[in-house]
Amino acid sequence: MTSKEPLDNATIHDLQEDSPSNTSGNRPFTDVAGVYASRRKVLKGGLTFAAASFFAAPMAFAAKGGKPGPNGAVGQFKQNGLISFDPVLIADGSGPVPAISADYDYQVLIPWGTAIEPGTSDYTGNPVTRPTAAEQAKQIGIGHDGMWFFPDNGSNERGVLCINHEFGRNTHLNLASDLDAVDRGSSSPSLIPNSLEAVLRSQNAHGVGVVEIYNNSGTWELDVASNKNRRIHVNTPVAFSGPVAADHPLLNTGAQPRGTVNNCANGYTPWGTYLTCEENFNGYFGDESAVLDLGGESPAWIGSWSPTEEQERYGFSSRGFDYGWERFDPRFDLSQASSLQETNRFGWVVEIDPMAPNSAPVKRTALGRFKHEGVALTVGQGGRAVAYMGDDQRFDYIYKFVSDDNWQAMRAQGKSPLDHGKLYAARFNDDGSGDWLELTIANPALDARFSSQEEVLVYARIAADIVGATPMNRPEWTTVAPNGDVYCALTNNSRRQPEQEDSANPLQANSDGHIIRWHDSEQHTGTTFDWEIFIISDDTQEDGDERTFGDPDGLWVDPDGRLFIQTDGGQKKGLNNQMLVCSTFDGPNDPTDPGKLDVRRLFTGVSSDEITGITVTPDRRIMFINTQHPGNGDPTRTNFPAATDGVTIPRDCTIVITRKDGGIIGS
Ligand code: FEO
Ligand code: CA
Ligand code: CA
Ligand code: CA
Repeated sequence: MTSKEPLDNATIHDLQEDSPSNTSGNRPFTDVAGVYASRRKVLKGGLTFAAASFFAAPMAFAAKGGKPGPNGAVGQFKQNGLISFDPVLIADGSGPVPAISADYDYQVLIPWGTAIEPGTSDYTGNPVTRPTAAEQAKQIGIGHDGMWFFPDNGSNERGVLCINHEFGRNTHLNLASDLDAVDRGSSSPSLIPNSLEAVLRSQNAHGVGVVEIYNNSGTWELDVASNKNRRIHVNTPVAFSGPVAADHPLLNTGAQPRGTVNNCANGYTPWGTYLTCEENFNGYFGDESAVLDLGGESPAWIGSWSPTEEQERYGFSSRGFDYGWERFDPRFDLSQASSLQETNRFGWVVEIDPMAPNSAPVKRTALGRFKHEGVALTVGQGGRAVAYMGDDQRFDYIYKFVSDDNWQAMRAQGKSPLDHGKLYAARFNDDGSGDWLELTIANPALDARFSSQEEVLVYARIAADIVGATPMNRPEWTTVAPNGDVYCALTNNSRRQPEQEDSANPLQANSDGHIIRWHDSEQHTGTTFDWEIFIISDDTQEDGDERTFGDPDGLWVDPDGRLFIQTDGGQKKGLNNQMLVCSTFDGPNDPTDPGKLDVRRLFTGVSSDEITGITVTPDRRIMFINTQHPGNGDPTRTNFPAATDGVTIPRDCTIVITRKDGGIIGS
């Protein structure tokens, strides 16, 4: 984000993610990590260590390969068996088009605007047109994010891709003539839709795409004739399931529940369904009755709506993120009578059956309501379904859901494993241990605040405040390694806000994020865990260190133990956002090379994008990732995926990655 950027909804989006709404007073993770680091330092006899090696504790992780993790200039990389590709050099990763390892190839698939039904035309980036709202509902959306490939009977050549469309800037989705420049109290005018058509175009570009794709003689294509293709967007009818029913007083607006929005990362279940996660849903609501009062010391919005305590904790505000939907769609107008219930209908994990095109998306309320980044679902002791989830806001929490019973047994009884179980929030203790704190109305402290378990789930953030969960630095994706270790990216992006961290703790300078890992007791079903820092991004920023990266966001561990790291934020040394690969068998407690992981850059995106979303074919010879918001929609920065012409509007798209020798991706 440069200072030249107009203050549109994207900027507000970033500001909001960075602004805490947690006033619980729970001790932040940075404090905990600082104390933990200091203790390690004392135990090491007061020697000075690099920050990462403070965490070089001999912890009880299940599998340690102990292979040396080389780093440094290209040519010094050693093969460690898992990763042998030549990385993209820093010098090559900053252009208007992507760069990929010399050992790999890529192609583009399903850019924003690709028609998913016969008879609909593609939008291809023409700068003087945009899709109509009706066309957009039959085209691939914008803001490609989390996704998963569901193979057709195990095929490596054909399957259904479910893909999230997180968000689109007003200025990217619309022509200037579709927008009004309105003084909304910012340093520059806000650009918001001036018609219902423009609002609907935006709404139809959000949500999820379900599309059948196949390998057509070496080129991956969308099968436009497939009856599985569909778009799920902000106006699609949805169902609620689990403890909180759609007609519960906290959710019931009197109208059919509709829509999913700000679909960020994702998960998938062992029973073949897709999970999409609603993240910054608060930003789409605004108070249409509010007028800007510039008469006081600072600008204030005066309207008929004022937030409840709960709405404040979830970040609702009079102007939202300046999408401006409330101007033409009363459902997103906070001054309407049922707006509390409408706001409570978002912030959930939503299950979609990719093979049943007529099935409604189902919001799984047992998993709690917060700003769901993603969900990593694994099978724990006794066959129980276990879901790890991050809430992406500065000083918010990491959660876990454990189903009541074996997932297969539950399904045999006609129950969803995601409807019956326990929800926990994580507390990270100073000594490297951790506790999962159950969010249950049986806890007297929660019973004193809430009237029912339903209310606990709808306001899970507040429940987690009360039980004393540990505020984290923006938890993004989680992923579960083959040995049961769980990884979470803490992107820690402090671009616009002063740090609220203890200046004495060694992570205070950690403005580029880090990755934490933990290992749960009782095969993911227990209430305790051990944790450590896996890597601090700041440790890769030295001159001459080719590994450099910051703001880790997307994560995936493959079945061999390779960790894929995707970034979203300003990278050092002029790099575009990127995807890197390292081995989870290296690590901070590798005695031969503490704190130095062999992290290799596989791919870099284009100017002003982020790299997000990751899935593979069953043989892992094909990988799909995304470039989101290339060029921030500005054709003078990049025209990707069109050829460089300075004019064509850049479009979010999926990137299909293959290894030239046909090998496993990441090797
Ligand atoms: Fe949608 Fe936190 O990234
Ligand atoms: Ca994003
Ligand atoms: Ca993300
Ligand atoms: Ca991010």
